[in-house]
Amino acid sequence: MNASSDFAVFGHPIAHSLSPRIHALFGRQLGIDLHYVAIDAPPETFATQLGQFAAAGGRGANVTLPLKQIAAGFCAERSEFATRAGAVNTLSRRADGQWRGDNTDGAGLICDLAERHRLDLRGRRGLMLGAGGAARAAAFALLEAGVEQLTIVNRTPERADALADAIGMPKRVHTRYWKDLSTLGSFELIIDATSAGISREALSLPFALVAPRALCYHLSYGAAAFSFLAWARTAHAGQALDGLGMLVEQAAESFAIWHGKRPDTDPVYATLRGELPLNASD
Ligand code: ATR
Repeated sequence: MNASSDFAVFGHPIAHSLSPRIHALFGRQLGIDLHYVAIDAPPETFATQLGQFAAAGGRGANVTLPLKQIAAGFCAERSEFATRAGAVNTLSRRADGQWRGDNTDGAGLICDLAERHRLDLRGRRGLMLGAGGAARAAAFALLEAGVEQLTIVNRTPERADALADAIGMPKRVHTRYWKDLSTLGSFELIIDATSAGISREALSLPFALVAPRALCYHLSYGAAAFSFLAWARTAHAGQALDGLGMLVEQAAESFAIWHGKRPDTDPVYATLRGELPLNASD
């Protein structure tokens, strides 16, 4: 196999993923010859496709929606954070051919918030919308970074309860029903970790959720984040941020795992930010 198929991102849908571009830019920056492809893999065929990728010499893979929790089950070894989050976004081939699983989403999110945007998370009351693979990593990372209270609300309440149980901090983490969103009061941090925007569904969220100067953050970027960000701005949030910075930072963490060097993310972020529209009307 040539270098062109050593790395990949698996997801469904995946056609518009920026990950191949980001890893190519990192490789160019550090003089590392790599090629990284996007592979569309629905959950039913992901195991087979990953096996084919490995058999053809694949060395590392990112895993995105909706495969992060499934990927955790394919690993012979997982990092402590991936084990706790129950979700894997980075697979690395070990010498014995088995996969090691890491999760760089949490570090990517905190790096974007704390370092790029210089935001202090400590003491904030947070609301997490969603309880899928992306939400799991974000929830653990935010609590580690000092978010005081986290209320998890998911369309399917059992998944929110399962996440709260996995976190195991009953004094700091609570679950509520989606239908009760209008009765929850306001939050200083609101994270949209749902995939609703990816399927172009707008969530119907009460403006009263947004506390004065609240930070509203969507884990996706581009069109998937538009309606949430527009809602947050209308509700006078202090900051309404998409997840482009998180995407670049989690990619840098994955890159460091595979290649032993962490790239400078600022030029890559600036390039991509310059190309992405910020609003639906741009
Ligand atoms: P990811 O890896 O991005 O987290 P996922 O594991 O498929 O992907 O999770 C998607 C999340 O978006 C889930 O929390 C899902 O809610 P359910 O658990 O009820 O499926 C949430 N989600 C997707 N579409 C939604 C919608 N229209 N309204 C509310 N939540 C939605």
